Amino acid sequence: MKIGLIGLGGFGGNAKLKAWKKVCEEEKHDLYVCEANASRLNDVSDAHNIPFERRVLEYSELVRLVDAVDITTPAETHFEIADTALENNVHVFVEKPMTNSVMSAVLLSGRVEETGKVLQVGMHFRYNKLTDKLKEVMDNDLGELWQIEGRHIAGKRPRLDGGAILSCGIHFIDLILYLHESKVSSVLSVSRNVLNRPQKPDEDISYVHLNFEDNVLATVKSSVIDYATGLDAAVPGINANWDFMVSGSKGRAFVDYAAQKLFVDTGYHKKENDAWKWVPVERKEIQVQTENVYETELREFIKHIQNNELPRANVYSSGILVQEIIEAAYKSARNGQEVKI
Ligand SMILES: NC(=O)c1ccc[n+]([C@@H]2O[C@H](COP(=O)([O-])OP(=O)(O)OC[C@H]3O[C@@H](n4cnc5c(N)ncnc54)[C@H](O)[C@@H]3O)[C@@H](O)[C@H]2O)c1
Repeated sequence: MKIGLIGLGGFGGNAKLKAWKKVCEEEKHDLYVCEANASRLNDVSDAHNIPFERRVLEYSELVRLVDAVDITTPAETHFEIADTALENNVHVFVEKPMTNSVMSAVLLSGRVEETGKVLQVGMHFRYNKLTDKLKEVMDNDLGELWQIEGRHIAGKRPRLDGGAILSCGIHFIDLILYLHESKVSSVLSVSRNVLNRPQKPDEDISYVHLNFEDNVLATVKSSVIDYATGLDAAVPGINANWDFMVSGSKGRAFVDYAAQKLFVDTGYHKKENDAWKWVPVERKEIQVQTENVYETELREFIKHIQNNELPRANVYSSGILVQEIIEAAYKSARNGQEVKI
């Protein structure tokens, strides 16, 4: 296959390009790159030995040359580039957020159905081996699910194409929807723009609470201003924490995605002589063989194309549904009220 990576910025020109080079070398695909900034196109391509004939300035030209594209450009460009690629019968991998409105997400889903092409969203936590193991632990060891909490935080440069939810927490909102398939009935959110950024959406810190129909409560904290102890796998030199906790009637689990560790603490609450106590059963770290998740999600994208499958991170769950929840979170933070979905 011929594959084109569009956008060679902080993420596209580093972790993503390295992942694509590895996957293309292993699986014998031809990698093209596209970047609107001519000097950046050549500098990054030189640094990564991309041949001259595989460097393209305009994405509208690239989509006539390749079978699949990966859109790693700023959020506001995703819809137009994805739509153009699909119109040209090109499969699409698009970074999060798939689009920046529910309306454009729905339009894009129509285009996917019309063309029969594969569209996968860059929600890499769905493809992480720690997530596979966590799902197994939730199914077998934790009993009835009570609550989920994710902290996706960093002390990093705030993005210009969205606030902290689109930069950070969107991954965990999507992961929660993947791990718990019940319907979200309402969203309650608070946020602050502490840096006084003029853009919209503008939050630097946010808490989004999801109420599920089956009474499970989930919370995602997103922040670009916090103290973080881990390392961001996507952007070199940035500290980040990607902490994810799940609790149920028979125990709780904690995944430290930055350190790639999973801990499980089984036991139960018991009332004895008018007092509650925690009865421990087992507390352990579960060893998981992890991989470079950017490579994993790209290999899965290629497999989905070859087998004509709906991706795990697809246009509906990781695109439309996630965007519906984020729009409800913005509305809730504005109005100070819970928003029904
Ligand atoms: N999945 C993750 O973990 C993760 C991590 C970081 C970023 N991202 C996502 O990746 C995307 C890019 O992020 P980034 O930090 O690299 O942004 P960036 O601003 O550093 O880079 C974007 C690049 O795209 C180029 N570009 C813009 N419009 C273009 C067009 N029409 N054609 C070709 N090139 C164009 C810009 O010139 C720039 O070099 C965003 O959607 C972001 O949310 C995802």
